[in-house]
Amino acid sequence: MTHLLSALDAQNNVWSILKEAKEFKEGNSSKKPLKNKSLAMVFEKASTRTRMSFEVGMYQLGGQPLYLSASDLQLGRGEIIEDTARAMSRYVDGVMIRAHKHEDVLQFARYSDVPVINGLTNLEHPCQAFTDIFTINERKNTLDLQMTFLGDGNNVCNSLLLAAAMVGMDVTVACPSSYEPDSIILKDAQKVARKTGSVLKIISDVQDAVAGADVIYTDVWVSMGDELEESQRLNDLRDYQVNQDLLNLAHPDAIVLHCLPAVRDQEITEEVLNGPQSAVWDQAENRLHVQKAIMNWLMG
Ligand code: CP
Repeated sequence: MTHLLSALDAQNNVWSILKEAKEFKEGNSSKKPLKNKSLAMVFEKASTRTRMSFEVGMYQLGGQPLYLSASDLQLGRGEIIEDTARAMSRYVDGVMIRAHKHEDVLQFARYSDVPVINGLTNLEHPCQAFTDIFTINERKNTLDLQMTFLGDGNNVCNSLLLAAAMVGMDVTVACPSSYEPDSIILKDAQKVARKTGSVLKIISDVQDAVAGADVIYTDVWVSMGDELEESQRLNDLRDYQVNQDLLNLAHPDAIVLHCLPAVRDQEITEEVLNGPQSAVWDQAENRLHVQKAIMNWLMG
């Protein structure tokens, strides 16, 4: 059974995902490959883009999406993951889960007889990362580029390191020392990077990190679940804001990405978010096209 639990799981499929997502976006595919199939979408946390892109994407592929809030399931009353996974597999052809703990999604996949897709955990956000690579390729027509990720080396950053390494893109993460990406993921990404020639760096100096970059990426400083650390995080990360002065140090044609939701005047300014170098609204749209390619790969 093939699952997408980590970006690494798509190592042999990344190029076909990008190609098929392009076909879906260009409207060249009227296929309904998931006709009569159903996808359970289990959410332990809030979502706008992930929920909508999977829900609309499943409909467009001819299938049926089921939105399931974890708190409305027996899972929320203590039914164990193993029993939920076994039962759910008898009704649907795939399960997308957004969970607090990455380990819970791994546990679900262990007992699932249908493909499981990670829709975000504390450790990874693979669907977002493949959308980001797709958006960069769409804007730049190449992936032989330098991306700089600024701020919190969080779940999005972890999956981006893996996905970028797979396609040979260089990534510099600029963050304070206690906000570095997961060390095991970084090792895995470096292993992939050795094969593709991509260069991955973790540094703290913002100006060095941004100099000449083709892509500037940021994400919120206080992710879901980090609310108790808010004041500490805002203080620790304040030098990593993506603003126009910082963007002026990057390549003049650099694009700016943000997986959204954004907090204006924390990690990014309004001027940059809605400025001429921003690709964030295309990036948000592209979740739909890439999700369709991912579902078709796993469930088609
Ligand atoms: N980027 C992202 O996953 O957005 P949502 O939290 O709205 O799904």
